[in-house]
Amino acid sequence: MRGASHRAGPAAVAGGAIRFSPDGNGESPHESTAREHRSTALAGRPGVPPRADRTVSNSSGPGVGTPEGRAEHGEPLGVGGLMSAAQVTSAADVADRKRNARREDARTLGVAVVGAGYWGPNLVRNFQSSPNFRLRWVCDLDVDRARRVLGGYSTVRATSDYSQVLADPEVDAVAVATPAGTHLEVALAAVRAGKHVLVEKPLAATYADGARLVEEAAGRGLTLMCDHTYCYTPAVARIRELVRSGELGEIHFVDSVRINLGLVQKDIDVLWDLAPHDLSILDFILPDSVEPVAVAAHGADPIGAGRACVTYLTLQLSSGAIAHVHVNWLSPTKVRTTMVGGAKRTLIWDDLNPSQRLAVFDRGVDLTAPQDIGVSERREMLVSYRTGDMVAPALKEKEALRAMVDEFAAAIAEGRPALTDGRAGLRVLDILEAASRSLEFRGAVVGLRAGGR
Ligand SMILES: NC(=O)c1ccc[n+]([C@@H]2O[C@H](COP(=O)([O-])OP(=O)(O)OC[C@H]3O[C@@H](n4cnc5c(N)ncnc54)[C@H](O)[C@@H]3O)[C@@H](O)[C@H]2O)c1
Repeated sequence: MRGASHRAGPAAVAGGAIRFSPDGNGESPHESTAREHRSTALAGRPGVPPRADRTVSNSSGPGVGTPEGRAEHGEPLGVGGLMSAAQVTSAADVADRKRNARREDARTLGVAVVGAGYWGPNLVRNFQSSPNFRLRWVCDLDVDRARRVLGGYSTVRATSDYSQVLADPEVDAVAVATPAGTHLEVALAAVRAGKHVLVEKPLAATYADGARLVEEAAGRGLTLMCDHTYCYTPAVARIRELVRSGELGEIHFVDSVRINLGLVQKDIDVLWDLAPHDLSILDFILPDSVEPVAVAAHGADPIGAGRACVTYLTLQLSSGAIAHVHVNWLSPTKVRTTMVGGAKRTLIWDDLNPSQRLAVFDRGVDLTAPQDIGVSERREMLVSYRTGDMVAPALKEKEALRAMVDEFAAAIAEGRPALTDGRAGLRVLDILEAASRSLEFRGAVVGLRAGGR
């Protein structure tokens, strides 16, 4: 069983790192309205000269009294009359402002959000507050839901007809926040319409579907990104730096616990509900040279829900290290910790401890035996314990979804893969599918596809 995860995401768990607003719109409707008007005025609509042809004028005409009106309809600056110094200055200011606005508009991407259920409104809010995007549509099979997300004063359009969204040439990108079982259909249609695509985790319902998406987007030179939200939290960004810079030394083990009295899902087990978070974090922080090669999963359904409610995953890494993930819907207490043990240092991330989310320990075990003696002799030797300092790195305060949305814009603008691109989504699907198979075979070790990184 597999599919979308519900109400299990960072909004519900990240201790304020991600804000959830009930109407999904943290921005004043008036701000979004202003942005729409600005882009409308500049976007080459009928009656508006093409961008390159626009000139700035001090003469009167339709729209006199507004800088916009003068610019669109008058004579070129400095022609046909004397101007006072003040007039010249203000005309120059207007010209500057217009040039800046044009530059800004050229960099702004039109975006549509599809799916206005639990998670979609978080995307809507972040696209609306990003200067890199202009939200044009919210699409949901239930159009009233889309309207409610936008509120009464927005000029962003709500629709239940996805083809309208895809036909809009000013939509450069589509964000898919529908249930995972529909990701392939919705995202593929967007790619085929030439749109860049952001897909919620998990990338698709199966590895084969995800691979199809990756292939189609790559073939068209379009950005395909997967929203692995946790990877954009300041804590995980810092963990990635610490691991990949070698500050922790060679990684020996990773241990991730995500347990809570969680909502027992109707269509997916706890593995597909919660583990995508831990697996995407693991994928994100490991150095490129280290990758999971096999997984064994054990699960239980002690309440007779018809699907695993408690699951333990053990991953073998290509370096010989080990990673463990514990996901559980039945725990009376909530725990969200990840430990990364290295040869030099070990870090502990406790996402529920805002005053000290991250702690790096200069403590560990050293083998005192020289390297050049045999294995059996080394085993006889005693280990020594290092007890150094613990440092709690300062973390920036930035909403993860905002960082994710910024990365989507940057990847499109720079024509490079996003930090959590479609391939990262595919690697997570590979582990989830292998772990499901392992669960069926009571913990058998199942190999992963090689070379995904
Ligand atoms: N990144 C995270 O941390 C996180 C957290 C929660 C959910 N999610 C993901 O977000 C996605 C949506 O989850 P949700 O909990 O919001 O689901 P939901 O069921 O609450 O909402 C889905 C919405 O999509 C609409 N929809 C379904 N098919 C559609 C279609 N073909 N066209 C237009 N609209 C359609 C439904 O009407 C519904 O309003 C899932 O992929 C889920 O895994 C991610």
